[in-house]
Amino acid sequence: MYQKPLLIANWKSQKTAESALAWVRAVSPAPAGLDVVIAPGFTLLSEVKAHLPEGWQLGAQDASAFPLGAYTGAVAADQLKDVGVRYCIVGHSERRRLFHETSQEVVNKVEQLLSAHVRPVVCVDQPYFKEQLGLLGGAGITSADIDIAYEPLAAIGTGNTADPTAVTQFLEQMRTEWQESRVLYGGSVNADNIGEFLLISQGALIATASLEAESMNAIIAQAIHSAQ
Ligand code: PGA
Repeated sequence: MYQKPLLIANWKSQKTAESALAWVRAVSPAPAGLDVVIAPGFTLLSEVKAHLPEGWQLGAQDASAFPLGAYTGAVAADQLKDVGVRYCIVGHSERRRLFHETSQEVVNKVEQLLSAHVRPVVCVDQPYFKEQLGLLGGAGITSADIDIAYEPLAAIGTGNTADPTAVTQFLEQMRTEWQESRVLYGGSVNADNIGEFLLISQGALIATASLEAESMNAIIAQAIHSAQ
């Protein structure tokens, strides 16, 4: 099944309304050949949605493992859906490392997102991808339900991308079971290397290089060039 390459700009805990608005005004429309998603922090979702550049889709960086209800501080998948979120990153390594999130919690989040009709993008890395994907499969989640982002820890925010040959090997290993998922690469992606990574993956998760609209525009231009 053909699916467009998926690019997700993950702002993490960066930007307030003013800088977010300046960014959406300066960023290029999304080309028809790509799915392009902006994932701002929760407080910026409505504002970004109101000024969403042409063709872009709204994403979130996390979701609650619980439904709507008495869960102080948590943002439920139904609330994300309500503000127009189409994609949600789950299980990012920063969530695991700094917030002690477990693979089972990620499964619970994926289930909440699926019931709210928000597409989960599950982040994995070598040390726990088998456990994570095994638990997802055990919960009845199939490759048609999710996209996956391979994010080697050493490549995140460091300027050192993973070796494309190693990425290829890893992606092939996952492909056997997760055939219908788009498998993205994430870790120091920028306009100079996006073309290379799109040859071996179905998209990219981009943080640092997505923060400036100009840099994001250059990534989109390169991505559409290599997708043609
Ligand atoms: P980076 O981060 O693009 O800054 O390396 C990627 C990520 O954390 O998703």
